[in-house]
Amino acid sequence: MRMVDLIKKKRDGQELSKEEIEYIIKGYTAGDIPDYQMSALTMAIYFRGMSESETTNLTLSMARSGEIADLSAINGIKVDKHSTGGVADTTTLVLVPLAAACGAPVAKMSGRGLGHTGGTLDKLESIPGMRVSLSMDEFVNNVNNVGLAVIGQTEDLAPADKKLYALRDVTATVDIIPLIASSIMSKKLAGGSDAIVLDVKVGDGAFMKDYDSALKLAEIMVKIGESAGKRTVAVITDMNQPLGLAIGNSLEVIEACETLKGRGCKDLLDVCMFLGSYMLMLAGIARTREEAVSKLESALKSGSGFKKFKEMVKAQGGNPEALDDYSLLPEAKIKYEIKAEKDLYISALHAEELGLCAMRLGAGRATKDDVIDLSAGIMLNKKVGDFAHKDEVITTVYANDEQRLNEVLPDILNSIETSEEMVERPRLIYALVTRDGIESF
Ligand code: URA
Ligand code: CA
Repeated sequence: MRMVDLIKKKRDGQELSKEEIEYIIKGYTAGDIPDYQMSALTMAIYFRGMSESETTNLTLSMARSGEIADLSAINGIKVDKHSTGGVADTTTLVLVPLAAACGAPVAKMSGRGLGHTGGTLDKLESIPGMRVSLSMDEFVNNVNNVGLAVIGQTEDLAPADKKLYALRDVTATVDIIPLIASSIMSKKLAGGSDAIVLDVKVGDGAFMKDYDSALKLAEIMVKIGESAGKRTVAVITDMNQPLGLAIGNSLEVIEACETLKGRGCKDLLDVCMFLGSYMLMLAGIARTREEAVSKLESALKSGSGFKKFKEMVKAQGGNPEALDDYSLLPEAKIKYEIKAEKDLYISALHAEELGLCAMRLGAGRATKDDVIDLSAGIMLNKKVGDFAHKDEVITTVYANDEQRLNEVLPDILNSIETSEEMVERPRLIYALVTRDGIESF
């Protein structure tokens, strides 16, 4: 086989066989196929697409490009949760402790933020002392002892994806369904969990900008998961405005703590409850959504979810006191308040632009090697549909650098739209995709 022939085949719209895909992924991972040929292929895939079986074969080849984590030493059905990437998506920090408090063991491997999207690992690292790289033994022991652990992907987990994602990031080939599906699912399959709950974001701040594309992505990921023998469900949720109130690393840790203490923002909590109910069902802990939600609500009310979060932080070297005394978390020097000029309703909060603004303030990375300012970010004191009186604070910007703040501020103001007329709150959960079909809400 020659790579140039395979590029040509895809360029001309033909289907690649399982053996051809395996040859490409093996060769690329080993360094035998150079980046320039791989980028030509990804661009051909961008324009020609991939069939369902090509996407499945690509996923399986990528999952097998490194080691498959062995979580068999963890008791119970391990359920993983993954988001396709959004702005201010604090769900993992809330959901994982709640599910663990209900008895579902969670062994989660998370990623870092890139561009306008944040990453759970960065958020966790704003807790002093917190370690997100544990050995496999420590990871397994923590899940058995505490009930949950969240770590970074190990070096040898789907190395093909690591290389390919970095290449896609700089060749404008990230936002294409077969490559997103195979990227996410290869890591989930290699991560070793028994079942997978996917949060497929749709809207302005997501890779999938419209519902039909999000549905296609959800369907193919569910098919791939199920065909690999793992129960997989996907929930399509809104990402037209950031989720919850906080955007930024230590700000989102505070938001997660507040939510686990019963003082959270409704939209964030609703998404957590919905995703969490499927985690409990797939883990065999609840039979129906109602039963699962009532368990999660008890874990919230009793504080056992928050207690689990603290236990996890402590077990991974973090200072659990910082989850009560927020002054122990990195704190920005400048807190700039944006106030309502008159009585108004918030009519739009453009997620992607707000994510980029938070990134420019230091909360995220423009390129993979940027260093993050864990204290920077944006607090949305009001969400779409909320009313604000004249002079009420609608947004607070957290920064450490006056000049950066002044550069970013006009774009933050432009991402907030207001109206004198009442505005309806947007829908939050659009659909559930399982092996049995689609349920719309
Ligand atoms: N998240 C991933 O891990 N991969 C993608 O391609 C997109 C989002
Ligand atoms: Ca948030």
